[in-house]
Amino acid sequence: MLLLPVFLLTFFLRPEPNETAQILGLFQHPGKSHFDFFRPMLLALAERGHNISMYSYFPLEKPKANYTDYVFKGMPLLTDIVDLKNFEAEWKPLGLPFKIPTYFMLNDWGQRSCKVALNSPLIAQLLESPIRYDVIILENFSNDCMAAVAHLLGAPVIALSSCAIMPWHYKRMGSPFINPIMPMNFLPYTDEMTLIDRLNNFFHFHTVNTLYNWITQPATDALISERFGPGLPPINEIVKNASLMLINQYYALTGPRPYAPNVVEVGGLQVGPLKPLPNQLIDVLDRSPNGIIYISWGSMVNTNTLPLAKRRALFQSISQLKKYNFVMRWKGDKSGENDKPPNLYTFDWLPQRDLLCHPKVKAFISHGGLLGTTEAVHCGVPMLVTPFYGDQFLNSGAIQQKGFGVIVHFSDFDTDHITRGLRIILDTKFADRVRRSTEAFRQRPIAPLELAIWWIEYVIESRGAPHVQSEARHINWIVYNSIDVYLFCLGLVWLLVVALWKLIGRIRSAFVREGVSRDTKAKKQ
Ligand SMILES: *[C@@H]1O[C@H](CO)[C@@H](O)[C@H](O)[C@H]1NC(C)=O
Ligand SMILES: *[C@@H]1O[C@H](CO)[C@@H](O)[C@H](O)[C@H]1NC(C)=O
Ligand SMILES: *[C@@H]1O[C@H](CO)[C@@H](O)[C@H](O)[C@H]1NC(C)=O
Repeated sequence: MLLLPVFLLTFFLRPEPNETAQILGLFQHPGKSHFDFFRPMLLALAERGHNISMYSYFPLEKPKANYTDYVFKGMPLLTDIVDLKNFEAEWKPLGLPFKIPTYFMLNDWGQRSCKVALNSPLIAQLLESPIRYDVIILENFSNDCMAAVAHLLGAPVIALSSCAIMPWHYKRMGSPFINPIMPMNFLPYTDEMTLIDRLNNFFHFHTVNTLYNWITQPATDALISERFGPGLPPINEIVKNASLMLINQYYALTGPRPYAPNVVEVGGLQVGPLKPLPNQLIDVLDRSPNGIIYISWGSMVNTNTLPLAKRRALFQSISQLKKYNFVMRWKGDKSGENDKPPNLYTFDWLPQRDLLCHPKVKAFISHGGLLGTTEAVHCGVPMLVTPFYGDQFLNSGAIQQKGFGVIVHFSDFDTDHITRGLRIILDTKFADRVRRSTEAFRQRPIAPLELAIWWIEYVIESRGAPHVQSEARHINWIVYNSIDVYLFCLGLVWLLVVALWKLIGRIRSAFVREGVSRDTKAKKQ
């Protein structure tokens, strides 16, 4: 805690930028959890005097100097929409995770939000405006149509990713994907995979990439040419022009990965300075001498859809751990007053980051969403995770592997598993290990938000950071994978073998001929 003011001081004592820039944010995806990772960067840039024009679904609650919101309309926000009953029966062919349907869900959302944003009057006004932007910041996720708008505006582009890089963005950024150590976003694997895991990882990565090339890209190109007419380069070419990608990953949690220098890990940057907790929560904390356990399945899940048997199991576990009070995010609590245990307090919304860092919070029951996960890791709170969809499986795998928590799968979500899991993570030995791992996550040469700002300002000053762009983005699949070199070497080996074969044949036939002539000579004599 002592370190925090020091960090803030050094952050704000950094030299002001020489010139303030015009910065444009283009975010067509209506997911709040994504935006919560992006916004701190744009707010920090505004504080440093840059002029931010922000196009998104998430305006600031209180207007701020140097930051203008332009709000897209036409898509429902992705909050409290996920029905937990969808995850009750998971289809596992041969007992293996099969997550290809996630691609189709993302593709569908991407197409819809893209169509809405492209045809929004805001984009028409933006393209007509005389303002020239020094950099455009957008999201590299399930659809790239905002990159076409950026292309028309002609400024350097910085891409953000609120999760691990989606499979189709590796090649475009010139960063390698190494199958045995890099689990694909939707899978529960880590960098320690068995042969079967690696096969499944390979299958998922390449299948999803192929689907993206065959379905998403042509559909996006069609939407773009419908809106702007023909003549723009293919979207895949446009996206390759991004100068930089800032990603919500950090190796102390998600494992070391080889990235090209234009891909920078800034995981945890949303963890801002501590703010005081609201009185309602302070009351609960005061009434909890042994501490509290915090439960939240994120902003997207509608907790009222928790199936009855699983709700009862959770409530029963809560009653078994009477020592602790439980604080849960449960929007529009319809759990029924009669079956709710007395040591469970529900709230529509909770200040997650500030709550997690409160010393009385002993454990976090979570879905493995990346924001909550990095906040818990930052604060050193052990987790019991139940992944439901998307990258939550990947994050949960990392949490368990790195000793930050345990997984209770939704199919096992019963009193026995929950109570047993909680007892494991509430053990003091477990908590001590979490505290040590937290050190590894926090100790960095430069705080992640500051690092992100440094890179963004570098892209502005260098007009696109041409020196960090990897040539790998532009070479084709055959050259990229050295298939041509393998073929050349194979050809050489083949030539050698043929030559050797011929030589042996000649020598043998010479011997045979000599032998024959000797025989015939012998007969003549
Ligand atoms: C807005 O930018 C100016 C410089 O242009 C800066 O002095 C000021 O602190 C910024 N305001 C806020 C609220 O960040
Ligand atoms: C900041 O950007 C807005 C557009 O979002 C523009 O209207 C305004 O003039 C800009 N301010 C400065 C100081 O450049
Ligand atoms: C990529 O950027 C360069 C320089 O910024 C520009 O000349 C080129 O047209 C861009 N290409 C695409 C496909 O956007």
